[in-house]
Amino acid sequence: MFIDILKKEKHSKEDLIELLSAKDKDQELLFEYAEKVRLEHTGNKVYLRGLIELSNICAKNCFYCGIRRSNSHVHRYDLSDEEVFSAAKYAYEQKYGSLVIQCGELTSKKFTDRIARLLKGIKEISNDDMRVTLSMGEQSPDVFKEWQEAGAHRYLVRIESSNRGLYEKIHPKDELHSYDKRLQSLKDLRAAGFQVGTGVMIGLPFQTLDDLASDLIFMRDIDIHMVGMGPYLEHHDTPLYQYKDILLPQNERFELSLKMVAILRIIMKDINIAATTAMQTIHPHGRMMAIKAGANVFMPNITPGEAREDYNLYENKPGTDKSPEDYLKSVEERISKIGYHLAIGEMGDSLHYLRGKDKFTN
Ligand code: 5AD
Ligand code: SF4
Repeated sequence: MFIDILKKEKHSKEDLIELLSAKDKDQELLFEYAEKVRLEHTGNKVYLRGLIELSNICAKNCFYCGIRRSNSHVHRYDLSDEEVFSAAKYAYEQKYGSLVIQCGELTSKKFTDRIARLLKGIKEISNDDMRVTLSMGEQSPDVFKEWQEAGAHRYLVRIESSNRGLYEKIHPKDELHSYDKRLQSLKDLRAAGFQVGTGVMIGLPFQTLDDLASDLIFMRDIDIHMVGMGPYLEHHDTPLYQYKDILLPQNERFELSLKMVAILRIIMKDINIAATTAMQTIHPHGRMMAIKAGANVFMPNITPGEAREDYNLYENKPGTDKSPEDYLKSVEERISKIGYHLAIGEMGDSLHYLRGKDKFTN
């Protein structure tokens, strides 16, 4: 019986494939069960993070990404320090509790020094009372350490796909895009004491349910603290666009992404899972549906000004026509409507991280 698989203590790859294949009644059961697990283990809170897209300048050339280095059609931008500080101040005053700073991957000393400087400034602005997540790719252990000491608490590096062969198909074959380096970064981040996040894209060309089940097992095996994942969305200015005709239809990629969130919640009960922008791009209520399926983190984009138009990893990325205050209010209303509570003023550390830390230090 499907319910017996759901209730298992530890799921095998075959179990996970079965859950990913759920249809109709079984699919409903999966979502209901995930919601139950979530309410039991993380309550009805949804944590807020203010998302700052610092810059779309990137040294890498991932085959799927709209802001890859070789895409000359992108208008490149880099926020000024003042813009970053004013966004951070805004998040602090609005009691967001945490910030996520995301940008393309660069490794120059000029860049890494700047991030350290920004982190110190944000720490000052927020009286050291706000958590900061960085998402800026693979860096050396020394840089991770430097950034952590400067004030970063969390770090997200997506594995994109845990299947090495698939990873290599969607990235150029060179030192800059090495699967082993990506894995090593996840290890280095943990060693540096970060709350560590990863994630995958769902519905990539050549990806199978077996791959997605392996992705879930990968996250469980490395005992990850936070996850951000969503559907792969084709971008016409990228090499992977040539496979657009062999992709699952967008609605199926969306459904599969919701199932991934639900199953991840069931197998990793107390981690933080984000309702990602990619979910919203594919469905107007995508993020709310992700919350219902088990996600407990919501990240309003607080990138100032026109920069927001240019962080186009994929096409049709939603913007917002509301003022930030009105937007937050509407988010709060929508989250209440589905029975959840926007945890304004809370930093929202991963319970999984906090518990692991207790285990470690006691
Ligand atoms: N579709 C969906 N997600 C994408 N990302 C990059 N390009 C795409 C795309 N075309 C995601 C990757 C990356 C993060 C910054 O955005 O997972 O790690
Ligand atoms: Fe750069 Fe990240 Fe896009 Fe790859 S996915 S090209 S590292 S911004």
